[in-house]
Amino acid sequence: MQLRDKVIVITGGGQGIGAALARRFSQEDPAGIVVGDLDRTNAETIAREVNGVGLACDVTTEAGTVELIEAARSHFGPVDVFCANAGIAFEGDVDLPDTEWQRMFGVNFMAHVYAARHLVPEWTARGEGYLVVTASAAGLLTSLGSAPYAVTKHAAVAFAEWIAITHGDAGVRVSVLCPQGVNTAMLEGGGALNQLLRPDAVEPEKVADDVVDAIDDERFLILPHPEVEKYFQNKANDYDRWLGGMRKLNRQARAWIEHISE
Ligand SMILES: NC(=O)c1ccc[n+]([C@@H]2O[C@H](COP(=O)([O-])OP(=O)(O)OC[C@H]3O[C@@H](n4cnc5c(N)ncnc54)[C@H](O)[C@@H]3O)[C@@H](O)[C@H]2O)c1
Repeated sequence: MQLRDKVIVITGGGQGIGAALARRFSQEDPAGIVVGDLDRTNAETIAREVNGVGLACDVTTEAGTVELIEAARSHFGPVDVFCANAGIAFEGDVDLPDTEWQRMFGVNFMAHVYAARHLVPEWTARGEGYLVVTASAAGLLTSLGSAPYAVTKHAAVAFAEWIAITHGDAGVRVSVLCPQGVNTAMLEGGGALNQLLRPDAVEPEKVADDVVDAIDDERFLILPHPEVEKYFQNKANDYDRWLGGMRKLNRQARAWIEHISE
């Protein structure tokens, strides 16, 4: 899909990958960009930069997502491209309280369901529309140290696949973005094990370029770290061997964290 003259919504667009997407999309002469974020000031700042509209929104509520879609419609027209990008990350094992599991599920997964619920019917009627889901390499592989992040990002990938399969023939395009480390506030703040991702982290601007290329090609899987494709193949080829390798990495990572925090 060409982004020229398209109406685009980006959630979590106030900073990081979402802000880079807004800036990169603005170079393609879209009809308009709506930037939604929990942080109103950041959303409005990025929106001003890209001649768009910035809104405070909470994507964990269906009403928050509908508000973004309606804002896009009233300022620019019906939404052509929706980037479900807002996400949160924190470490946690099985003992995390239900409220924390639900909080992560709300942002990293249910928000995508709300967007699709309100856009897929109109896109299938029109025969065109594009959902870009920001998942993570954790959605194909795993996330050391965070059970809810691994699980919710797998859910995001599974949902994106399902929409692509079920509504692709009616013209709904889907891409799923699965980076490893990206240099944003999330990587800085997401817990000690995030340090493992820092040496190979890429800039959000590179990720945004990759997203534009994938939309242009209408390609499903976006891998800013190409080595993830190999890891994903290793997992599919021999699951037990892959699990053994990940257990070893987990042990090494924990020993290293203990060592550097002594
Ligand atoms: N940074 C990484 O290393 C990395 C790697 C893989 C995937 N991702 C994914 O990329 C996406 C963007 O992350 P980022 O790295 O730019 O992080 P970030 O923390 O810099 O930005 C996330 C943005 O989402 C917003 N947000 C959070 N909860 C929200 C809510 N309920 N409603 C609306 N907005 C909300 C935040 O205010 C923030 O502006 C996330 O889905 C994240 O999981 C990040």
